[in-house]
Amino acid sequence: MSKKTVLTFRSNNSRATMNLGRSFAAYMRAATIVCLFGDLGSGKTTFVKGLAKGLKIPANKVHSPSFTLMNVYQGKLPVYHLDLYRLEDPQQVMGLGYEEFVFGEGVALVEWPERFGPFMPTDYIKIEFKHVARDRRRIFVSIVGKSYQDFFNHIQEDKVELK
Ligand SMILES: Nc1ncnc2c1ncn2[C@@H]1O[C@H](COP(=O)(O)OP(=O)(O)OP(=O)(O)O)[C@@H](O)[C@H]1O
Ligand SMILES: [Mg+2]
Repeated sequence: MSKKTVLTFRSNNSRATMNLGRSFAAYMRAATIVCLFGDLGSGKTTFVKGLAKGLKIPANKVHSPSFTLMNVYQGKLPVYHLDLYRLEDPQQVMGLGYEEFVFGEGVALVEWPERFGPFMPTDYIKIEFKHVARDRRRIFVSIVGKSYQDFFNHIQEDKVELK
């Protein structure tokens, strides 16, 4: 099997994006960091809802923490849902318990990770959402750093796909 460096998924509705998130839940481990890139309304929170659901967190508990910057949900693993859109000073991110999620038991799902600035993690799962048309999105998955190679091999070997 040829090894890819980027996996591309095509989503035709929000349910498909949620289902992809849900499929990814099985691969989450303690201290996993997932950075979600993409414009406003491209589907980042929708994906988080699906992933949370896969960790037994009801989707209606999941809301973008736009003003508080971070929500914590308790599921099979603790989920730290960050939305850094309104982060003014990257230094602020250090007050959120950033170390707790990096070194702790939880999974960090980060919207607007660009705002990390100098605190951008060195290793993370990278998911990019591209708005193609009203209900169509292209979702690109890759890894940055070496820590998530096993994750990336597994989603390829298991042929995770949109349903
Ligand atoms: N294929 C699709 N995948 C994801 N969302 C879709 C899709 N088609 C339509 N949508 C709609 O697009 C919107 C995506 O909103 P969502 O909150 O997930 O975006 P976001 O990337 O988190 O934006 P923000 O940067 O504002 O937090 C929702 O209203 C959703 O129903
Ligand atoms: Mg969002």
